[in-house]
Amino acid sequence: MAAFSISEVRAMEILDSRGEPTIMTRISTEGGFSGSFSVPAGASRGRSEAFELRDGGKRLGGRGVLTAVANVEGPLAEVVRGRDVRRQWEIDEAMVRADGTKNKSRFGGNAILSVSMATARAAAAGLGEPLYRYLGGVGAREIPVPFMNVINGGVHAGNELAIQEFMIVPLRFNTFREALFAGVEVYRELKSLLIGKYGRSAKNLGDEGGFAPPIGRSEEALEILVGAIEEVGFSGKVKLALDAAASGFFDEEDGKYLVDGRSMSPGEMEDFYLDLVERYPIVSIEDPFHEEDFESFSSLTKKIGGRVQLVGDDFFTTNVERLKKGIKMRAGNALLLKINQIGTLSESLHCAEVALRAGYSVMVSHRSGETTDPAIADLAVGLRCGQIKAGAPARGERVSKYNRLLEIEEELGSEAVFAGESALGID
Ligand code: PGA
Ligand code: ZN
Repeated sequence: MAAFSISEVRAMEILDSRGEPTIMTRISTEGGFSGSFSVPAGASRGRSEAFELRDGGKRLGGRGVLTAVANVEGPLAEVVRGRDVRRQWEIDEAMVRADGTKNKSRFGGNAILSVSMATARAAAAGLGEPLYRYLGGVGAREIPVPFMNVINGGVHAGNELAIQEFMIVPLRFNTFREALFAGVEVYRELKSLLIGKYGRSAKNLGDEGGFAPPIGRSEEALEILVGAIEEVGFSGKVKLALDAAASGFFDEEDGKYLVDGRSMSPGEMEDFYLDLVERYPIVSIEDPFHEEDFESFSSLTKKIGGRVQLVGDDFFTTNVERLKKGIKMRAGNALLLKINQIGTLSESLHCAEVALRAGYSVMVSHRSGETTDPAIADLAVGLRCGQIKAGAPARGERVSKYNRLLEIEEELGSEAVFAGESALGID
């Protein structure tokens, strides 16, 4: 039907949450409906991610995306114009083929993703369905567990914490609303504990809306988190998770990890994690080793994979080839799904499917540079994967995802199910 065929593709340069330029694309169809998407950007990027096209040169420190905008309105529009927005695979494949490079470096992964996601939105609009139902069908009614990054370190903050993300995970609740607001109670308590202990500067926020206190040791952050959870009465119900983003503190010269004032070998690093999971209620650890050390990742999975979720972000970069390598080696037991790491919706969905079929769990993720676009909330519900990480319950670009989930839960009414503990696939 012609109503669904793409008539217009427009893009523009907008800003992300770090004040960096990014791209927003709108796709319109003959039938007069449309959809848009704004692309996020990472700071601790995996080396195997799709190419993010930036203008270079002097303007905005080279970070402009005007070339990507021109690629969307020029060659990519040429490829997709006249195609049916409901044929997501076909459109994505055609763009990938036209790009012709392995990592989408010709047109830019950011340019391609913006068209890919805007296409899905336009299709959903044309069918009169919310995005989550368009993606996941009528059975998509599970609201994911939120992984809230409440203490920021690594490249997301100006403190000395090597570990990038300290997350709270409200697991044992009946609804998403209850879980989210339990997280908010912890966040509020954490703020006052931090100010009490370190002074007012401790309430400064990092890139993902978590606090960036002047803490140097991982244990200190974990202790204060446990204290905050206890204080608001959620011990046992709200758990903890880490994203080490270990490539960020790995010294390639001597093959050591620099954490908490120590220089550790991969073996010592493993002991470090084994010790932490004994002493703290940690249910999930992401990127515990640098992104090429599949052996250490596999060894840790063998030891604690039955009771702790081990998530590959930079390890897998939402790339089926890398994920398959991980599955083969039993490295990790969960995939972090970031659509801009691979650059199309279709490839992201395929990667999630490969993970789920292999018994890996899947966590949909934001980037540290976000916009207020809530599409990943719909994606997490559509995938029925039961987990999402979207930062702290603060700042517009983070809460837009959580607020969207509240809205979806409300819309589904008694049909809605909170994913809870079972989503993690561990004992
Ligand atoms: P990034 O970090 O978006 O800055 O890459 C997020 C993460 O490592 O999960
Ligand atoms: Zn990560």
